[in-house]
Amino acid sequence: MKVLVTGVSGYIGSHAALELLKAGHEVHGFDNLSNSSEEAVRRVRALAGRPLRFERLDLLDAEGLGRLLKEGFDAVLHFAGLKAVGESVEKPELYRRNNVDGSANLLAAMEAAGCRKLVFSSSCTVYGEVRENPVDESHPLGAVNPYGRTKLDVENLCLERARLDPRWRIALLRYFNPVGAHDSGRIGEDPRGVPNNLMPFVMQAAVGRRDKVRVWGNDYPTPDGTGVRDYIHVVDLALGHLAALDHLDAFVGARAFNLGTGRGASVLEVIAAAARAAGREIAYEIAPRRPGDAAAIWADPARARRELGWSARLGLERMCADHWRWQKDNPNGYGA
Ligand code: UD1
Repeated sequence: MKVLVTGVSGYIGSHAALELLKAGHEVHGFDNLSNSSEEAVRRVRALAGRPLRFERLDLLDAEGLGRLLKEGFDAVLHFAGLKAVGESVEKPELYRRNNVDGSANLLAAMEAAGCRKLVFSSSCTVYGEVRENPVDESHPLGAVNPYGRTKLDVENLCLERARLDPRWRIALLRYFNPVGAHDSGRIGEDPRGVPNNLMPFVMQAAVGRRDKVRVWGNDYPTPDGTGVRDYIHVVDLALGHLAALDHLDAFVGARAFNLGTGRGASVLEVIAAAARAAGREIAYEIAPRRPGDAAAIWADPARARRELGWSARLGLERMCADHWRWQKDNPNGYGA
């Protein structure tokens, strides 16, 4: 297939582009490079040994999008978007414009070009307040911050689009917590500034860029009192997109799928696994809860297994080993 990848130089987009190339697809990607580096694209090309067309383009450039889509694509994988929860609370309008208006532009350009197959990067954040674990796709939806609101809004745009025109095929992939890196250690997550997410922070502590990890709360109703999440290896996640692409014709309209392992790990379990992978101790201290955090959330990934033939294969040890290799070989990310 000829596939367009938005957000191709980002963490998940770059890993998905690599797996697409390895599977023989023709890949064209774009990114506005606001939060990523073109070096990721160069490394994906080198790893795949195949061409990957890239251009700098912003989702808010409707004209540019229209021109690009007119080239003719079989499907679009849509990763581009802002993703920092804290920043979204400070700048909700920026998040709405980039994530929601940008996605609306993309859908309009696709429609105009007659490309109606889309895989959208959604998030388990659309489940809002978690009622019960594991969470399946029928769990009530809600937003607990502006970032989550944008994911929900884009899901709704997709559902609406598919309702109005049954020729559309859209997979809404609800990611749990992506971590890890390609096992070459050449591509990985490169957060700008101080990482908000646990794994990049833990790995930067392991490599000596941070003095210690702050554990946000140890008084949750979980086995060791710290927050529990469903961490998923980014390569498993990338392969979930290929499975979705392969199965888009099997369902009508827009359909949501959880991409998680179905297993939860606590903050302390992650720190311990990361320390084993890095072969060194990782200092941490217990700090107050972070406002807005859930105690625990993990996926019921049965629908993706049943309908997409996909399930996660790589466990926490492997996630940490691969993330560590990337961190150790690229202590300053792509900027080194
Ligand atoms: C967060 C976002 C989620 C987003 C995801 C990926 C919130 C409420 N949710 O998920 O919408 O899709 O990132 O970008 O922010 N932790 C620490 N110390 C740290 C960092 C994290 O103890 O320095 C703990 C957290 O309290 C949590 C776990 O580690 O229990 C995972 O946190 P994080 O990696 O930020 O992901 P989420 O909060 O699950």
